[in-house]
Amino acid sequence: MKKELKYVATYTCYETWNDVPDHYKNLMKEAREALKGSYAPYSNFNVGAALFLNNGKIIHGSNQENASYPIGFCAERTALSAAASIAPHEKIKSIAITCSCAHNPVSEPGAPCGICRQTIFEAECKHKQDIEVILMGETGEMYVFKSIKDLLPLHFDAGFL
Ligand code: THU
Repeated sequence: MKKELKYVATYTCYETWNDVPDHYKNLMKEAREALKGSYAPYSNFNVGAALFLNNGKIIHGSNQENASYPIGFCAERTALSAAASIAPHEKIKSIAITCSCAHNPVSEPGAPCGICRQTIFEAECKHKQDIEVILMGETGEMYVFKSIKDLLPLHFDAGFL
């Protein structure tokens, strides 16, 4: 017996900045602030991430590259590592992620890489709370996912170990 199955993910798309609720606007503005700390002399692709914790605190992260390319850090994992160090027991409600590129302006939401999706998923598992994922480029639409699981089908977790 053979079956064809399909994945379905639902997410919200705000078509213009005017359509976006204030709390998402505010966290996206924090991600844009975070992006200012980006160190990306090799790719010239700047990424900023802002976490909103259950206690209302905001934690920033940005991508940090290295001349030894593979050891660079993505913005999402920089922010998650900062949160895990500063407030290890505080749950994370949301992460806003934005990106910019000097030679090729980003007009659509940037997709988090696979390693960052898995790392955000680990934070959901650790805190037993879904993390809302908010994505936007420099301009254009904003996407909001209720959980990283919507961006990570067939997720790998401790249940396999
Ligand atoms: N980057 C991130 O910061 N987050 C992602 O999810 C995708 C990629 C960074 C890594 C590198 O510094 C630059 O973007 C280009 O790949």
